[in-house]
Amino acid sequence: MEAATFCDNISRYFFAGEENEVRALDEVSLTINKGEMTAVAGPSGSGKSTLLNMIGCLDTPTAGKVWIDGVDVSGLNRNELSYIRSQKIGFIFQSFHLIPVFTAFENVEFALQIKGGMSHQERKDLVMPLLDSLGIADLAHRRPGHMSGGQQQRVAIARALVKKPTLILADEPTANLDSKTSMSIIELMIELNQKEGITFLLSSHDPMLIEAIPRVVRLLDGKIIDDGQEG
Ligand SMILES: Nc1ncnc2c1ncn2[C@@H]1O[C@H](COP(=O)(O)OP(=O)(O)OP(=O)(O)O)[C@@H](O)[C@H]1O
Ligand SMILES: [Mg+2]
Repeated sequence: MEAATFCDNISRYFFAGEENEVRALDEVSLTINKGEMTAVAGPSGSGKSTLLNMIGCLDTPTAGKVWIDGVDVSGLNRNELSYIRSQKIGFIFQSFHLIPVFTAFENVEFALQIKGGMSHQERKDLVMPLLDSLGIADLAHRRPGHMSGGQQQRVAIARALVKKPTLILADEPTANLDSKTSMSIIELMIELNQKEGITFLLSSHDPMLIEAIPRVVRLLDGKIIDDGQEG
């Protein structure tokens, strides 16, 4: 099976004063295959966000290598990392991070503008059917401030999906949603994984979310204690 991402013995240390070294990630190796849906679980401070940030090319490991879609991204400079993010990774955040002055349509279209190489019409032909399939076509011209949390997260999911990334990373995507809305967002992601083969890696504290996800990687104190693989 082809790997969407492969972490080879990565560590991330933070230095808070001379004696205070925090091992946020400590020699972690992990393969996420294309088409897989995986949750990273673990208590607060166990390194979930740090791991997603490494894989998302938002931060670089202190040691070890990260591969995205067969490319070793560990040695890339800031511009090169930014290019990989724009082309290959879709992000979904806990607090949605939509641009408040943009409509739903413009927020999603913006991901394609950053990716580049498309006319406005080509972008529109991708964005509108996607909003429709996520049940938010009627919100296309509305700004995030006039939407519910669940609606905003659907716009963020559309923004992550529209560029057809290798991998979608979601750090606690349901943490700001009530339990009913959380479940509908999880079900939506599971459906996208099963029907479209989209690769998801998400982090969560939420037992309801974790229970619904086929593969669960468990972190504790910066180490993987269970990588969720059979055997
Ligand atoms: N920028 C930073 N500077 C110093 N320490 C950091 C930094 N970022 C994270 N850490 C530390 O690294 C460890 C892992 O943090 P991380 O945010 O990855 O945990 P988490 O599992 O995502 O926690 P939560 O569930 O609370 O989001 C923690 O001890 C945290 O305090
Ligand atoms: Mg976190």
